[in-house]
Amino acid sequence: MRIALIHGPNLRLLGRREPDVYGTATLEDINGAVESLGSELGVEVETFQSNSEGAILDFLEDASQRVDGFLINPAGLTHTSVALRDGLVGAGLPFVEVHLSNTTARERFRHHSYISPVAAGVVLGFGPQGYLLALRGLVARITGE
Ligand code: DQA
Repeated sequence: MRIALIHGPNLRLLGRREPDVYGTATLEDINGAVESLGSELGVEVETFQSNSEGAILDFLEDASQRVDGFLINPAGLTHTSVALRDGLVGAGLPFVEVHLSNTTARERFRHHSYISPVAAGVVLGFGPQGYLLALRGLVARITGE
């Protein structure tokens, strides 16, 4: 099994971006933890980050030809992007939406997600652990266990 982990805008700044909200783990730490759980579970993990919505949409389209599902932290695009929602639906593969913070406990504009209604599942508020929970959930969804 192969999955792609997609990080949206500004997430390459993790570790020094609002550490009181997002913690001190870097993107490399998170990718490394997901890759290492992936190898335990027999899952190949491909990672991608972009600050550009178009680049994320292009990646989604390409990657959907070679992976079985996605983990995605859409970051700010969560609250704004119909195009990302359409791209995820169009990819036709199961995906889990992950947020480091509990977005429902933050500013009102973060309470709405264009992505959640079309996700297989959503993980909020567990920091980097959330990606590992999401990987287990996604694998179970794909294998039907
Ligand atoms: C975030 C939450 C979003 O509201 C925000 O725009 C982010 C990070 C999170 O992981 O908690 O960039 O997706």
